[in-house]
Amino acid sequence: LNVDLDILESSMTRSETDEVGGVLLPKRVCDRWDQIWNFRARPDDLLIATYAKAGTTWIQEIVDMIQHDGDTEKCKRATTYLRHPFIEWVLPGPFTEAMPSPRTLKTHLPVQLVPPSFWEQECKIIYVARNAKDNLVSYYHFHRMNKNMPAPGTWEEFLEKFMAGQVLWGCWYDHVKGWWDAKENHCILYLFYEDLKEVRGESGFIVLLLPFRVPNVVLDKIIHHTTFEIMKDNPMANYTFQPPAVMDHSISPFMRKGTVGDWKNHFTVAQNEKFDEDYRKKMSRTSLTFRMEL
Ligand code: A3P
Repeated sequence: LNVDLDILESSMTRSETDEVGGVLLPKRVCDRWDQIWNFRARPDDLLIATYAKAGTTWIQEIVDMIQHDGDTEKCKRATTYLRHPFIEWVLPGPFTEAMPSPRTLKTHLPVQLVPPSFWEQECKIIYVARNAKDNLVSYYHFHRMNKNMPAPGTWEEFLEKFMAGQVLWGCWYDHVKGWWDAKENHCILYLFYEDLKEVRGESGFIVLLLPFRVPNVVLDKIIHHTTFEIMKDNPMANYTFQPPAVMDHSISPFMRKGTVGDWKNHFTVAQNEKFDEDYRKKMSRTSLTFRMEL
């Protein structure tokens, strides 16, 4: 309850922003940055890292199902928010300290801002990346419905801010590239939203889950329980647990579309050309590529 009140208190006005290391973050995150930076990771922590709106909630549900052998009731024991605390957001230190091991935690931080203890403890990390255009569209609608985010302005304005990296949790391009490079030296499983959507494809959901050695019968349950349609109706995962003063699902539901290629319904031809040109420059020196359903 304290946690929910804490969220509510901060929600009446749009979030103020500030910076840490040149990365735009909510002011309340910056204000307690020392505490976040000194987060005490444990060796058996699993960290789920994403750029916001890349499919965090989805991979959280998949991971929880794997950890609970496909037991859907156990996965409904609490909201996503409480099952996998968001380390840089609202939950106070004592909450994560009191969690039994092994913990699964969530972050949207760019790799250079991850608390050092995660590297020192050699924690396992799962990163999910989503193609820039769909990620941007999803982020825009999230800003519209979530009063904890700054007001997005018009679509055109938000598009410009995204390209300039002037959005919360920083520049998408740096985020996906930074984590991509980090996997060379750390235990990071780097996944793509688009691959997860393709359940039975060559690099699809099933193949991605192979390392977890999930029996077929459990795998079927996981696939079913984590489809967009089922998650949209799951009150423990669809963020309707947030007070409407924070997230107004009537403006845009948290579980909005869950598709690949919705960007085509948002970009004008001119915006798309400009975005592509800028994208090519920013992504020219990386081996990281995305499937964008062009
Ligand atoms: P859209 O806004 O494009 O619909 P995050 O959890 O990182 O905030 O990401 C939210 C995005 O993931 C939203 O994208 C949401 O609909 C999508 N999503 C959530 N659960 C999903 C699922 N089971 N399958 C596909 N997409 C899902």
